[in-house]
Amino acid sequence: MKYPVLKPGPSRPRTILTTIALFLSVFIAFACSSGSKDKLVKPDFNGPNWYKHVVFYHIWVRSFLDTNGDGIGDLPGITRKLDYIQSLGIGGIWISPFYPTPYFDSGYDVADYTAINPDYGTLADFDELLAEAHQRGLRVFTDMVMNHTSIEHAWFKESRSSKTNPKRDWYVWAAVPNIPCVPSPPFGESAWTYDATTGEYYFHHFYPEQPDLNYRNPEVQEAMLDVLRFWLDRGVDGFRFDAIDTMFEDEGTSNPAPDFICLDHPLVYEYVKRIRTVLDEYPDRASVAEIWADPVTTANYFGNGSNGFHETFSLTLTLAFQGTVLSNGAELVPTAIQESSAPLPPNAQYGIFLSNHDFGRVMGRANNDPRRATLAAVMLFSLPGTPFVYYGDEVGLANGTDEIVDVRDQFRTPMPWTSGPGVGFTTGTPWLDPSPGSDTANVASEEDDPESFLNLYRKLISLHNKLDLFGTGTFEAISATGAGPGLLVYARVGEKGKAIVALNFSEQSQNVMLDLSKYVTSTAKSELYSEMPPKLNPANATSYSLTLPAYGYVIWSVK
Ligand code: GLC
Ligand code: CA
Repeated sequence: MKYPVLKPGPSRPRTILTTIALFLSVFIAFACSSGSKDKLVKPDFNGPNWYKHVVFYHIWVRSFLDTNGDGIGDLPGITRKLDYIQSLGIGGIWISPFYPTPYFDSGYDVADYTAINPDYGTLADFDELLAEAHQRGLRVFTDMVMNHTSIEHAWFKESRSSKTNPKRDWYVWAAVPNIPCVPSPPFGESAWTYDATTGEYYFHHFYPEQPDLNYRNPEVQEAMLDVLRFWLDRGVDGFRFDAIDTMFEDEGTSNPAPDFICLDHPLVYEYVKRIRTVLDEYPDRASVAEIWADPVTTANYFGNGSNGFHETFSLTLTLAFQGTVLSNGAELVPTAIQESSAPLPPNAQYGIFLSNHDFGRVMGRANNDPRRATLAAVMLFSLPGTPFVYYGDEVGLANGTDEIVDVRDQFRTPMPWTSGPGVGFTTGTPWLDPSPGSDTANVASEEDDPESFLNLYRKLISLHNKLDLFGTGTFEAISATGAGPGLLVYARVGEKGKAIVALNFSEQSQNVMLDLSKYVTSTAKSELYSEMPPKLNPANATSYSLTLPAYGYVIWSVK
């Protein structure tokens, strides 16, 4: 199961007027949200475990900021916006693939692993971005696409040129298709493409323009580890590893057994150990891997907790978050946390997110209801794991409507910096139409409004940095007497303190009774809330009465 929820959620056609109405409603709903008046807290996490404490920001380079008017975002555009990223309280960025590419899979078809796509700039631009980021204390993850190359990669050009070429065996060739794996949507129906030059077929888990590298060949293994070293030597802080689960499959056979393995092959875990060894050659590097599997399989990718990936994403958590945002199924979350964390080795932590370039925007999931998207954010930043914010979510960016490569372009629209035709993204013509609503939901229009979506994100991330317990602390669900569907209450317990979080993912106001005595050992501080809650202290914590309005929330901290 690759993209189980790839299709964008049902979305209503929106006009500018309904967009304005929606945003007005969120501003009114949260006009009373006072929250912390403290200065925003910057991240300051060092040492080998830094990645467990920070909030990451995930950037689609083609759509972030265009600095030369060609309508295409570029690396200097990211550099120019580092101060903005820093103003969010972010501790690390993950940049989508920026390598030369014919763009059949939006850059996930890499034509050269050690160069920069001229659309996005040069290696010097990358070095400058990295230096400027580091100067601001921001870590940088790049996207490492190891399973496959582009058909335009020099290795594949050689490989396909003749059956005797030294690179022939760097890819998976067969006279007759003999691996029964099939791509998942939207990558087509067959994993084999006929190549007339030599009259054989090559294997691809994804689009035909993305031939799989043959990892059974030791030269391929070495060559790709050298690619990692190339970027680590330049100073990157680590990688987001793409589609790792597809790197090995059972060997080709004309008579495949019913349990033929296409994903999560045992051999992949051996190679992951080699990847980790390379990362460990450098101080304080980290990794997050894209794995879409059940919790036990996912946990295997952490190895023993120090010889696998530092983090992976979690399908179980992602589905629970999406279910919660879409259908008030808040009760999914504690179960998903329990199930996904049970098989983890010591020291392991997930990366968590509401949106990304494959799954779609949280605003789409929330049926374009900003109250739901807001509550989803309050949830994300207060749950265990390292939060990854997909660029634009912080201003309430909606899914787009324009499509060039495939349906996922709807999730990759230009970052709305201002109103106007190029939404501040470009002075030229944007390569992809901005999402509906970008005229009103943008950085400029939200910047100075203390109650805006953008500034709520800032407060949440600042609180994440200040309390420093949400990433790593334990999670305990709290039962609420009198609760209806959609109510979620939990405690987070860390080394530096505790937090209690109450969320109401429903249209109805809910009045509940909570026993918080286990956590409220001193007066609790209400850090962020939709409506000021009654005082919470050891005297009333045993039977604390709380009324949460529709989509209301409170986060308390306890020393
Ligand atoms: C990953 C990427 C996705 C890409 C695929 C093939 O799933 O997130 O965008 O299409 O790998 O590289
Ligand atoms: Ca440009």
